Amino acid sequence: MPSGVLPHYRHLLDIPAHTAEITLLEGDTPLIPVPRLAEELGGGFELWVKFEGLNPTGSFKDRGMTVAVSEAAGRGAKAVICASTGNTAASAAAYAVRAGMRAVVLIPQGKVAAGKLAGAVAYGAEVLQIDGSFDDALSLVVEISQKFPIALVNSLNPFRLEGQKTAAFEICDTLGSAPNWLCLPVGNAGNITAYWMGFRQYHALKQTGLPRILGVQAVGSAPLVLGHPVDHPETVATAIRIGRPARGEQALQAAEESAGRIIAVTDDEILFMQRRLAANGIWVEPASAAGLAGLAHQLRQGKLDLQGQRVVAVCTGHGLKDPDIITRTFQQPALIPARMAELEDFLAGGR
Ligand code: F0G
Repeated sequence: MPSGVLPHYRHLLDIPAHTAEITLLEGDTPLIPVPRLAEELGGGFELWVKFEGLNPTGSFKDRGMTVAVSEAAGRGAKAVICASTGNTAASAAAYAVRAGMRAVVLIPQGKVAAGKLAGAVAYGAEVLQIDGSFDDALSLVVEISQKFPIALVNSLNPFRLEGQKTAAFEICDTLGSAPNWLCLPVGNAGNITAYWMGFRQYHALKQTGLPRILGVQAVGSAPLVLGHPVDHPETVATAIRIGRPARGEQALQAAEESAGRIIAVTDDEILFMQRRLAANGIWVEPASAAGLAGLAHQLRQGKLDLQGQRVVAVCTGHGLKDPDIITRTFQQPALIPARMAELEDFLAGGR
């Protein structure tokens, strides 16, 4: 079986014939069972984590970026541009450099996690910080891409969604059918839209069933829960610090059509779930824990009956993306003199 979103799934993607194949062999990420975590949440259901942090640049964005950049390269584009809370920037940079294209990325100053900024710089993107939010950056890049010959690779670009929907295919292929529930974080709302597209397409093709979708925002950045844009979004989960989601309408539609819902959780709930995932061997960035934090929240409130059901939580980005949050929320390593006696004392004393 060929790996890489385009080599593997091209026949299922709605893309132009000119689309090239710029790939880093993304996709085919593991679906990891987490039975102990399911027990902690009350038990009686099966729980899996789709660990999208294991994509080549450390987030799910690579699935969509391989397609968006391949399409742009195939029609001779010389440059791509995006606004980003960080992961899209790193991904765009990596795929653009492989295609021999220029990548220009706009990020909100001081609000992008260290691993993402480092990635974008390392892959050679032209990084511009703006003294505004992601939403401001997105308005700018949308407008400039209409004036200049530069391809917009935010998820407003339909080819991004074509690539990202392949994660739904993979889940169905691994489980043999769609799960009963899919929970995931929601920021600019491209991913929830793509998953719903993917599940519907696979169901039409292979009768794999449809999941109910639980989309989760952070309380300080929850326009889809509040029902109006948020001018000054805030959350520790900087990836989803977004007040005007570009695909908000479609996200609401996905939740409604799937008989699911979109809810918000606090930063404390997000960080708590990040720790619980780490305690199960899966280290994700804060935003990536939001989906499961939402599931836990709904279970606590008695709003979900998962008895005998299958649940997949999408963990969108790797913990390495945001090392600083760990230094703030976890105990730091002890320092001892380089002597055997001290080491023996330490071990005897436990932790
Ligand atoms: N999780 C992570 C780790 C993300 O980076 C993002 C979005 C999301 C979830 C939300 O996905 O926007 O499709 O609803 N990050 C974008 C970026 C905005 O610029 O990297 P969404």
